[in-house]
Amino acid sequence: MSSSVTPSPIRSVTLAQPFTDQKPGTSGLRKSSLQFQTPHYLESFIEASLRVIPGVAGGTLVVGGDGRYGNRSAIDVIARMAAAHGVTRLVTTTGGILSTPAASHLIRSRGAIAGIILSASHNPGGPEGDFGVKINGANGGPAPESLTDAVYAATQSLEGYRIAEAEPLNLDQPGEQRIGDLVVEVIDGVSDYVALMQKLFDFDRIASLLRSDFRLAFDAMHAVTGPYASRLFEGLLGAPSGTVRNGLPLEDFGGGHPDPNLTYAAELADLLLKGNDYAFGAACDGDGDRNMILGRACFVNPSDSLAVLTANATLVPGYAKGLTGVARSMPTSAAVDVVAEGLGIACFETPTGWKFFGNLLDASRITLCGEESFGTGSDHIREKDGLWAVLFWLNILAVRGCSVAEVMAEHWNRFGRHYYSRHDYEAIASDAAHGLYNRIKAMLPDLVGQPFAGRTIATADDFAYTDPVDGSITIGQGLRLLLDDGSRVVLRLSGTGTQGATLRVYLESYVPPSGNLHQDPQAALADLIHAIDALAEIRTRTGMERPTVIT
Ligand code: G1P
Ligand code: ZN
Repeated sequence: MSSSVTPSPIRSVTLAQPFTDQKPGTSGLRKSSLQFQTPHYLESFIEASLRVIPGVAGGTLVVGGDGRYGNRSAIDVIARMAAAHGVTRLVTTTGGILSTPAASHLIRSRGAIAGIILSASHNPGGPEGDFGVKINGANGGPAPESLTDAVYAATQSLEGYRIAEAEPLNLDQPGEQRIGDLVVEVIDGVSDYVALMQKLFDFDRIASLLRSDFRLAFDAMHAVTGPYASRLFEGLLGAPSGTVRNGLPLEDFGGGHPDPNLTYAAELADLLLKGNDYAFGAACDGDGDRNMILGRACFVNPSDSLAVLTANATLVPGYAKGLTGVARSMPTSAAVDVVAEGLGIACFETPTGWKFFGNLLDASRITLCGEESFGTGSDHIREKDGLWAVLFWLNILAVRGCSVAEVMAEHWNRFGRHYYSRHDYEAIASDAAHGLYNRIKAMLPDLVGQPFAGRTIATADDFAYTDPVDGSITIGQGLRLLLDDGSRVVLRLSGTGTQGATLRVYLESYVPPSGNLHQDPQAALADLIHAIDALAEIRTRTGMERPTVIT
């Protein structure tokens, strides 16, 4: 088990020219698997990262990924490069399987200088799919822009890289190996995470719920959460075997698109929304940080989910003392704002992407946070956390003894309802997308006071954010049309797509408790959908009759 290769020769490789396309996006460097196979491509980005991350020499590094094609070989390369850069200890996992939230926890609990997470999140995997490298900082969260900018700058003038020669690592069982002076520690990636969940949630109560006639279906989408979910639900919590579906991580996610939404997790959605056998359904994405929550005949939109967790947090042991504050990304609906106001706690509106929550969490300004894109999390780590959200819901249901639909109905009756939907137009020609976007951006000043969907546009702006902790300013985060009745439409271009451009249209309309007609969201938002199409010429400019994905 312990193979010693001391000393380990270090090779210097010269690059003919630097790679100029290694600018990390919202969640790290994300490209096609094919591109990552270009000789020296991965090495270039890792070299730049190891030169820029503070404390590399003598430090501990956490490395692992969602199991997609390229995961294991990338861990080998990173370990050998870490050895060449004087890292003392590299912590990785059996099979190289490590979810993003578990990585965040491991970075924090091991006092690591950083983590390198191999994932393209919810994008398809395999030789024809995507691969990605995310750098997380010592707080366990996505690296701040200052660091990713510095990594990018380093790639631009990179002349070469250093790598140790070594045999491939053995990731089959826990144990220690060495590459020169570097200790590579292979651990079971599941147990630390599971222990953290046991500290936060009432496992006895959830277990008795799952032993009753309450049936749970969890879809791991052949991605990273399979081993975690099996240990949690079928192991510790005693749910019957078969509760975890598609639980075996596969390099190509079984050919699927590991994004837990009604389109890509359609099989699970059908079980809950059309069938009658299950009381609760949930799914997580490729790297385990996203979650979708379903009840019998009830889809919980992620913005509402954050609001429900906030309103019910004190029922859960880890949050029994109450919340210091909450935050949501700008395009996320204001459902949580209404709850926060009722609780008398602060509510922050940040740009899209988890890194903006990090400062607020580190400064203890917030306890919970979330995004409309199926991301929810808390101060227990510095990433969103899919299984954590599922356990949070189960804990609430176990205490309240009611169904998901009842929780939602009661919530809307108390706080009012934010009808909400996101329409994605994927893989559109980049010129068409930017043309559409820039046209509306230029029109913003003239839109104020104009009629829109039977209302009036009260504010039209390009969202900018001043970080309340460090004062940094982030501009250009999405075009907002705020209407006089509190409804709004937001346009954004995705920062995570790898093919062409993706236009996201976010639609929201608030109905106070007394006025709720319990409509289908698409029907409730139909006038807004129509009006934004007319204004932004979405169908004609994209050439698409309807969105690729509606959530
Ligand atoms: C998308 C989501 C965003 C999330 C990010 C990473 O980014 O919309 O909320 O933080 O993935 O999971 P986008 O493609 O919109 O830039
Ligand atoms: Zn993800």
